[in-house]
Amino acid sequence: MHNRRTFLASTVAFSACAASAPDAMFAAPAKKRILILGGTGFIGPHQVRCALARGHQVTVFNRGRSGKGMFGDHVEELVGDRGSDLEALKGRTWDVVIDESASQSSAPEWVERSTALLRDRVDQYLLVSTRSVYLDTSRVPMTAAAPVLTRENSPVAAGQPLGYGHAKAYAEKAAHAAMPGRVTVVRPGLIIGPEDDTDRFTYWPVRIARGGEVLAPGDGSDHVQNIDVRDLVEFQTKLVENRTLGVFNAVGPQGGQPFRQFLERIQQGVQSTATFTWVDADFLAGRGVRPYSRELPAFQVMRGRTAGFARFDLSPEIAAGLTFRPTEATARDTLSWWQTLPAERRAAQKAGLSVAREQELLAAWRARA
Ligand SMILES: NC(=O)c1ccc[n+]([C@@H]2O[C@H](COP(=O)([O-])OP(=O)(O)OC[C@H]3O[C@@H](n4cnc5c(N)ncnc54)[C@H](OP(=O)(O)O)[C@@H]3O)[C@@H](O)[C@H]2O)c1
Repeated sequence: MHNRRTFLASTVAFSACAASAPDAMFAAPAKKRILILGGTGFIGPHQVRCALARGHQVTVFNRGRSGKGMFGDHVEELVGDRGSDLEALKGRTWDVVIDESASQSSAPEWVERSTALLRDRVDQYLLVSTRSVYLDTSRVPMTAAAPVLTRENSPVAAGQPLGYGHAKAYAEKAAHAAMPGRVTVVRPGLIIGPEDDTDRFTYWPVRIARGGEVLAPGDGSDHVQNIDVRDLVEFQTKLVENRTLGVFNAVGPQGGQPFRQFLERIQQGVQSTATFTWVDADFLAGRGVRPYSRELPAFQVMRGRTAGFARFDLSPEIAAGLTFRPTEATARDTLSWWQTLPAERRAAQKAGLSVAREQELLAAWRARA
């Protein structure tokens, strides 16, 4: 997906951090030496661009599989493996680590290993965690104080690997245990925007831009909160520049927005005349189209255990510097990026309803009762 040419082109096209420099919380940073565990993949290049735009010195550490050489001379690249080979990190010092690659069931061990090696060689450890750490999202509003998954409150069968949310929750614990009082945890929801290879948000602007009758899930009142990757890395850069410690969620906008407004804003952003047919979420689930699944990405039903899924109160995060760009802008920029991809990639949509499946569901909805 990435190479050096696209990294440099994107530095111009999508550089958010420089544009927001007048922000008072984001002025005149002390230059930091930042180690990014990861740095390629999806959020990595955005984080690298933001840090470089702010004048920081960046080193990345990864296996060299997903973007080797993409940064040219701008960044020091170290090669290793979080599970088996940290040799390249030995004997080095940085001001701060941004850990955005601990995402497997082995995440707790990976964080234990990297913090054991780096705790006396870095000042601050920022761990990119996830909204999935919560035991559930039933509270309205949700905040970082809600309980997270543990083996006690949500048992894991013997011999089974930890699930994603569990692993991230234990990775957070590992970071706090190794570097008490020097950890920043960021828990993003669905990360969206240009260069997201999962198509989970991208489906919506691409589908709406195509026009015609769009199947819209629910009745339009279920809320949605996610985070533009550029807002996320900008927030993380502020947390590093200001040495802000603690646990923060990263979704937006504040309080969430109804799905109807979300789709209408996407429609505005991609300038489409599409129409929406709202189809009951239970009707869809009865046909195997469940919320937050591959076929129905970015949508969640606001009831029971997910009543607060998109009702986070982000007051502490906003005070710490989190901002949200308009959904219209995310949609427009994501569609622009999508249109630069090869036709074969665009034909192989990874999330959302196929044309045939959408037609089939709309016909069934019309024929109900
Ligand atoms: N995407 C979302 O919607 C979302 C939502 C919430 C939280 N998050 C969190 O955000 C973080 C970044 O997500 P992403 O989508 O940007 O991930 P990604 O695209 O999969 O990138 C992962 C990065 O980790 C490196 N990596 C993978 N395995 C490694 C290993 N064994 N040793 C060293 N480096 C390794 C990869 O480079 P190489 O392949 O070259 O090693 C790459 O730089 C993750 O921690 C994820 O849990 C994501």
